[in-house]
Amino acid sequence: MLLMFVAIAVLATAAVATAANGGLAPSTPRSPNAIRTSDAYYVILGFTGAIFILVESLLVAFIWKYRSRGRARTTEGSQVHGHTRLELIWTVIPVVILCVIGLVVFYELPGISNAPAAAEPLHVTVEGHQFYWQFDYPNGARSINDLHAPVGQVVDLNVVSSDVVHSWWIPSLGGKIQAIPGRTNHFWFKAEKQGTYTGQCAELCGLYHAKMEARVLVGTSAQYTRFVTSTAKTDLGRAEFQGVCATCHGMQGQGGYGPNLSSNPLLIQPAGLTAIVRNGRNRMPAVGDTWTKEQMQALVQYVKAHIYKGTATSGS
Ligand code: CUA
Repeated sequence: MLLMFVAIAVLATAAVATAANGGLAPSTPRSPNAIRTSDAYYVILGFTGAIFILVESLLVAFIWKYRSRGRARTTEGSQVHGHTRLELIWTVIPVVILCVIGLVVFYELPGISNAPAAAEPLHVTVEGHQFYWQFDYPNGARSINDLHAPVGQVVDLNVVSSDVVHSWWIPSLGGKIQAIPGRTNHFWFKAEKQGTYTGQCAELCGLYHAKMEARVLVGTSAQYTRFVTSTAKTDLGRAEFQGVCATCHGMQGQGGYGPNLSSNPLLIQPAGLTAIVRNGRNRMPAVGDTWTKEQMQALVQYVKAHIYKGTATSGS
């Protein structure tokens, strides 16, 4: 018994320590679909919590009340033959509870799956890759791992994968949606507050699944426009290296799971670099199989300027 209480206390403290909103609750919802999911969650938690407390207290009370008190092991208890009213009550109440939960869920569901009618939703393609996220905006801009969106606007997501199954999940902006090769799944959010919303690939997809983090950066519509019309382009090489290559090769290309790149002359041979990034090699996945020419140029420029240190300094 004592051990159980200690275990519960430890688990609760650990949860509080790792989460910002009190620990045990899901992250604060900031999109209409996430708010509805959260509402349904709290209704179910209310019922199940009350039942848990009721059942566990009765259990403890009965253990106490009917403890042996030195009674012989062979003594028979009083014989009971059914109790119609009690049996009716414990059949009817659960049926009512299940009906209420069902009603609440079916009431919330349309607002979770269907985006609110918006004059002009913003269409963004989310592409899952081993081991990063790539976003395509309507004007052709691309970004890696950071999805930029304007506040208060319905963002309609086409979720795809170029290799294996991933799962797009930004808890504050709605539930999970799988990214499945050969298929387009649809999802949406409408961020009600500016800010940075973090999430994580939620489908075990390979060695660096845990590194497949995503952020949704929600700003004003002017900030969004500035990003897709200019910053996306100027920042692309950095975003690609840090969001894709660095996962295995280190932030400075110093090496990690993958080999050191900083002194590899291949880095300044656009054709060779392009071939490897597009096709992969040995254990390296084809990370850039869907990259455009502009993306490859941006990467080449970035590694030339920031990563390549020359063959003379054979960094280790
Ligand atoms: Cu992608 Cu896990």
